[in-house]
Amino acid sequence: MKEVSKQRMLFATRNAHKTREVREILGAGWEVEDLTARPDLPEVEETGDTFEENAKLKALAASAHYAGWVLADDSGLEVDALGGAPGVRSARFAGEGAGMAANRALLRDKLSKGQSSDRRGRFRCVLALARQGVVIRTFSGAVEGSIAPSERGEGGFGYDALFVPEGSGQTFAELAPAEKHACSHRGRALAALSAYLTAEEPAA
Ligand code: IMP
Repeated sequence: MKEVSKQRMLFATRNAHKTREVREILGAGWEVEDLTARPDLPEVEETGDTFEENAKLKALAASAHYAGWVLADDSGLEVDALGGAPGVRSARFAGEGAGMAANRALLRDKLSKGQSSDRRGRFRCVLALARQGVVIRTFSGAVEGSIAPSERGEGGFGYDALFVPEGSGQTFAELAPAEKHACSHRGRALAALSAYLTAEEPAA
């Protein structure tokens, strides 16, 4: 039987949840290493105003230290009644270092005390693909949905226990990983990346 060699990539994150999802979605054909094994690589300050800017910043910073394919993910939740917040500040909504439980509590609080009954929002993900210090392309994905009034489910991470994708009665944290990936912002952005890589047939 013909041996199919794996492609390798550095995924420029220290968020183990994102890495798990990227590995699950890309599947066995890719060997995905992340920055947890590279303490020598600097932490990148996310100074951009958009997901795209931040994804590019992270991809370029890692690409300066790695010869092969580098992928970076910048993502977050936009809530209409909050004017698109937390957006690019999703990881630090309740303050630098406050943690995700505090971020979710703040989101619940703002929506329950706000004037509007509109609970619509969306997750967005932008992936930046870089090689040898150059961003080759970006890929985006989004999923529309609504913010549940209380947390439900044990799976996932981040805001998953509060996000109900359109057409589902369950939060992302209640869905099986494969069900989340089939409609998620990250699943959609990675589908676009896979289509591009398949068409380009990059050298490992
Ligand atoms: P950043 O991309 O490092 O700025 O962090 C994105 C933040 O958005 C994460 O820390 C999560 O709080 C949130 N986020 C992004 N994607 C997801 C997801 O798939 N589920 C839940 N929360 C997410």
